Amino acid sequence: MFGLFRKKKTLPTFAPLVTDMHCHLLPLVDDGSKSLEESLEVMQAMRECGFEEIRLTPHFNYPRFPNKADDIQERYKHFCAEVEANKGDRQIPRMTSVTGEYQIGDGFAEYLESGQLLTYRFADPKRCSEKGLLLIEFSLHQKRMGLEDTVFKLQMDGYDVILAHPERYPYFDSHSEVLERFKEQGVYFQTNILSFDGFYGEASQKKAFDYVENGWVEFLGTDMHNVMYAEALRHASSNRKIIQLVEKNEFENKNLVSR
Ligand SMILES: [Fe+2]
Repeated sequence: MFGLFRKKKTLPTFAPLVTDMHCHLLPLVDDGSKSLEESLEVMQAMRECGFEEIRLTPHFNYPRFPNKADDIQERYKHFCAEVEANKGDRQIPRMTSVTGEYQIGDGFAEYLESGQLLTYRFADPKRCSEKGLLLIEFSLHQKRMGLEDTVFKLQMDGYDVILAHPERYPYFDSHSEVLERFKEQGVYFQTNILSFDGFYGEASQKKAFDYVENGWVEFLGTDMHNVMYAEALRHASSNRKIIQLVEKNEFENKNLVSR
């Protein structure tokens, strides 16, 4: 499989996005990168694919990845220093923030009650809610009861909500009424770039294109986890349909800033 990926040339296809706002490159805090070296390799591929900056988003998913905001922020500071000291001649994107990808699951209420959710905001303060933009994800297997209520409560509580990779949930189809209601409520959608290249299978690939066609997608993310994903990103960079998609559509990635 990797041999096939290698044959295509890496192109700076994602330069118009400027920023990647979804990746798991803080080592050993979730199912993402396993080492500094692995993160550096992935970051190099991201730079070659055109990204100037990246925002790290480790999983906050109790009890599987029971991360805490202050610990993640400490690790991030340390990681930035390590990257600077060890990058050598590599061209890599700037790291500009650490937030999180919060799973709406058993431990989420506790995160919410703590008031310590890590969020982005828009550069234009008029566009942003009081508590910022929160990246959330759902279970990839089963639709959780009360999911719509949780999203609505988050919005009522002063958060803007970005739903990560809606195309990956098997219980939503191309014209899902639940997703349509989310859009009416002002929920932002972030599609994974690799979905357009079939990395997660045909169903996700079709829905990714359909959601863009529906006008539902404001953000694109790499959701990089490790070197295998990095090879897949290189492959995606030379997919003609993806090149056209990035050229023809305006995405919000570059309008995010740190809190
Ligand atoms: Fe993710």
